[in-house]
Amino acid sequence: MGYSTDHRSMSKLRRNKIWGWKCQWSIVTITAIALVLYNAAANMWLLHPPSCPTHTTTQPSEPSSSCEPCTDTAPNNVVDDDPISRLDLRLGRWDGSRSYRLFDYAAVGELYPELSSNHRVCLATQSSIERLHELLRIASHWTGPISVAVFVAGDELRLLRAFTTWLFRCQPDIYSRIALHVVTPAERPGVPGSVPDWARNCDAKPLPPGQRRADTVAWRARHPYPQNHLRNLARKNCHAPYVFLVDVDIVPSRGMSEALDKFLATAPKCPLCAYVVPTYELDRRVANFPANKSELLRLSRNKLAIPFHRKVFIYNQYASNFSRWEASGGNESTETHISHNVTNFELLYEPFYVAPDTVPAHDERFLGYGFTRNTQVYEMFLIGYQFRVLSPIFTIHWGLQARRNRPLWREKQNEKNRKHFETFKRELFARYRRDPLHLLRRPQQQAKKT
Ligand SMILES: *[C@@H]1O[C@H](CO)[C@@H](O)[C@H](O)[C@H]1NC(C)=O
Ligand SMILES: *[C@@H]1O[C@H](CO)[C@@H](O)[C@H](O)[C@H]1NC(C)=O
Ligand SMILES: *[C@@H]1O[C@H](CO)[C@@H](O)[C@H](O)[C@H]1NC(C)=O
Ligand SMILES: *[C@@H]1O[C@H](CO)[C@@H](O)[C@H](O)[C@H]1NC(C)=O
Repeated sequence: MGYSTDHRSMSKLRRNKIWGWKCQWSIVTITAIALVLYNAAANMWLLHPPSCPTHTTTQPSEPSSSCEPCTDTAPNNVVDDDPISRLDLRLGRWDGSRSYRLFDYAAVGELYPELSSNHRVCLATQSSIERLHELLRIASHWTGPISVAVFVAGDELRLLRAFTTWLFRCQPDIYSRIALHVVTPAERPGVPGSVPDWARNCDAKPLPPGQRRADTVAWRARHPYPQNHLRNLARKNCHAPYVFLVDVDIVPSRGMSEALDKFLATAPKCPLCAYVVPTYELDRRVANFPANKSELLRLSRNKLAIPFHRKVFIYNQYASNFSRWEASGGNESTETHISHNVTNFELLYEPFYVAPDTVPAHDERFLGYGFTRNTQVYEMFLIGYQFRVLSPIFTIHWGLQARRNRPLWREKQNEKNRKHFETFKRELFARYRRDPLHLLRRPQQQAKKT
């Protein structure tokens, strides 16, 4: 009896207790739900004022005029797809000759800082507006950070704005990895102008030819392209420990960013090492980018791929010794490794290489074509850098080059730079206290002297 009474009162007590708990929990839950709802409502109200349509990167739409007043009340809502328009063209950093204004980070993808801290190599490149579309080929193979400097004169700035908008809306994955910098000449500064329709049309090809004003085209033809200013600008805005500087028409093999990360993680410390990535020219008739080194060597045997500049200017890459690089026949480790060292440095050698950005700057007194990269590489050689050729990674230039394709204006710029090259050599001689040419011609004697 006593037991059952006790049992009844016990269970009643427990029921009451449970009921109490339930009540408390309900209150907590209801409060939480109320808070969540309130928050959601507040967010909705803040982010989506009723009269303003939302813009997304996947569904581009023209901002309607009725939306304009919303911009002030809800700035977060409006997609910032035209960062270049905000450049204050009266500002910008002057170059050494006060001929060009330089704008760092005119547009920056949101992943650029993070990618720079978790990758070892930043790809740096530079371009004029006519060739900027080639950046897409690089970006489709290079998954690390990309720092690109672009030259714009007059109404070309309008096209750069349009390209940046197009990239932001139509290729957000690529845009997110890029930092874009601008150089504009003092004599013909960029003019923002109006953005053409293709900027917000993802079915359109960006930067179609023939969109520049005739006077801009004429001005550009009369003035040299300041490639070394652009190279330095792109390089100096890289934040990863190593820089891989390429021209915009040089496409890295797929997965190179990851391959280099892996290689550099285990490479012995070598502050005066530059890692050369071999470059081949590829016949335009070849449909697909070679998947790997074996594929490239097969094309090379069929004369559909040749070492870069072999026909135009053999000394350009001669010292890389392609026959040594090809000797393995592609039967080698797929892990990136050193194939061989450069042992016969040539005066006009200009490989594309990976190195920390403590290498000498590109001399900005060379304007236009000729002696722009090989002079920088030559100074590295005098400092004592060793060039080591990597395998099986490579880079490709689409199209076989022939000397006859070189226009007259380019030869003229080359001649002008050749004259400056004599000054440059004398300066190096004074700075490093070595006769560069002597060093090259008689390496043994020079070694005995020092
Ligand atoms: C190289 O690529 C070709 C073509 O895609 C493929 O058949 C071959 O197996 C690849 N070789 C290596 C070593 O990955
Ligand atoms: C390339 O390497 C091979 C093999 O070591 C050597 O015989 C040849 O002289 C080298 N060629 C050049 C241009 O350096
Ligand atoms: C590739 O290299 C391995 C190891 O050096 C060798 O055993 C094999 O016969 C080579 N294969 C070809 C096709 O050359
Ligand atoms: C390259 O040169 C370095 C130093 O001179 C040497 O230790 C290394 O073994 C060489 N590498 C190759 C692949 O010949």
